[in-house]
Amino acid sequence: MQPSFWHEKWASKQIGFHLGEVNPLLIEHWPQLNVASGASVFVPMCGKSLDLCYLAEQGLEVVACELNQAAVEQFFTDNELSVEVQTLGEHTRYCTEQITLYQGDLFTLPTHLTAHCTAFYDRAALIAWPEAMRQQYVKQLAKLIAPQSIGLLITLDYPQAALNGPPFAVSDDWVMANMSEYFEIERLRCDDVLAQNPRFISKQVPWLTESVYRLVRKG
Ligand SMILES: C[S@@+](CC[C@H](N)C(=O)[O-])C[C@H]1O[C@@H](n2cnc3c(N)ncnc32)[C@H](O)[C@@H]1O
Repeated sequence: MQPSFWHEKWASKQIGFHLGEVNPLLIEHWPQLNVASGASVFVPMCGKSLDLCYLAEQGLEVVACELNQAAVEQFFTDNELSVEVQTLGEHTRYCTEQITLYQGDLFTLPTHLTAHCTAFYDRAALIAWPEAMRQQYVKQLAKLIAPQSIGLLITLDYPQAALNGPPFAVSDDWVMANMSEYFEIERLRCDDVLAQNPRFISKQVPWLTESVYRLVRKG
């Protein structure tokens, strides 16, 4: 998707992807990864997700990236966090004691800013890309995190022809075929979530599943 697509979504408050709570799947599955307290976790395309707060509460250093400035500012004001702001080339760094959020394009984020991250969390980032861009995103994510990094990936799958994304349908086959070059992949669960998604029901999407993967960066 072009940056303008997301800037328009944020400007018009069409942010149906934003959850008003920490993602229950994160709470359920993150502890299984056994990420050591004090480790750094990278969260690409984070929006103003409360998941950042959950990860910080686990004693982790959170490093995140988000394109839209209003989203970044809302994250810090909504959570009453005072923040230091610094311009770093084409990105702006927003920093609290435990959370560093780079506002700007993930694809131009310098790798030295995230190279110390040994964990990562992707919710609604991979599935925000149409198929033509998805492989490039995977490559960029793999480039930004350290070898052996462990993380969670949450995807949605449905018959793509039934609805225009985002979120785009990402099948288990796609994940295995396109991410195995960079990651060891284990699917932890796959649930039927149609009943909880009225937008998909109203568009008569016949089925909708949500999967959670445990990934380990190869290398
Ligand atoms: C579907 S939302 C998901 C947000 C968040 N992960 C969540 O769970 O609420 C995708 C986010 O990616 C951001 N985004 C899109 N393209 C980006 C890019 N090239 N670099 C960084 N962020 C981007 C959008 O502004 C949007 O906030």
